[in-house]
Amino acid sequence: MPGTVTKFPAIPRHIAIIMDGNGRWAKERGLPRREGHRAGAESVREVMEACKELGVEYLTLFAFSSENWSRPESEVRALMSLLERFLRDKAKDLDQQNVRLLAIGQLDRLPPKTLALLDSIIVRTARHSAMTMVLALSYGAREEIVAAARSIAADAAAGLLDPDAVTAELFASRLQTTRIPDPDLLIRTSGEMRISNFLLWQISYAEIVIVKKNWPDFRQADLFEAVREYQHRHRRFGAL
Ligand code: IPE
Ligand code: IPE
Ligand code: MG
Repeated sequence: MPGTVTKFPAIPRHIAIIMDGNGRWAKERGLPRREGHRAGAESVREVMEACKELGVEYLTLFAFSSENWSRPESEVRALMSLLERFLRDKAKDLDQQNVRLLAIGQLDRLPPKTLALLDSIIVRTARHSAMTMVLALSYGAREEIVAAARSIAADAAAGLLDPDAVTAELFASRLQTTRIPDPDLLIRTSGEMRISNFLLWQISYAEIVIVKKNWPDFRQADLFEAVREYQHRHRRFGAL
């Protein structure tokens, strides 16, 4: 919390990951980009298990951005079919591991079949309590923030909300991540040092760790390494 004294939490409560570099991983091997996305699913499995082992409560994975819709149609189609396969394969895993699934993003833009599958797994895992895995799908932080602003403006225009009552807490409650604590640690793979429209509001005080490896090469050891780096940071939240 900004302004308050916090005991440094050894294990991040929430880890968010920008899973980048699938295409480059494939290119380096002379494979089609799709193979990079496919290989990335194994990294997701490893990271999910590692986070559970550490006692991380929330793991958010950036799987598809609002901007990714502008990729060639064949790639978008491949990504959607891999997402469906991932969801089908993962459903049992999530049950066995007691992991709850949530999703954020403009989900109504997903193909109806993909959305139905996603919804069914969210419902099926709703009571699981070991960890929450949040998939950011068709997600863009600016779109999320604009939607929150629109809902606040609509309530104010209807006389339901006093503009003076709009606080940071109220604003956050209108985001899709309401009830999810802000990420403590943000990891991006593939060495890129940018946020790419991911969780702009929520990462205000996240510690950022950039990993050179492409996402399909990211293993449990890399996750543990990132957490170790996080543990050596001094989080000040603007205070002394
Ligand atoms: C990340 O890998 C996965 C998605 C964005 C869907 P990329 O597909 O961005 O791979 P690079 O960055 O081109 O290597
Ligand atoms: C960010 O990666 C989105 C995801 C990982 C899903 P991109 O590859 O789309 O981002 P840019 O284009 O490098 O900024
Ligand atoms: Mg990329």
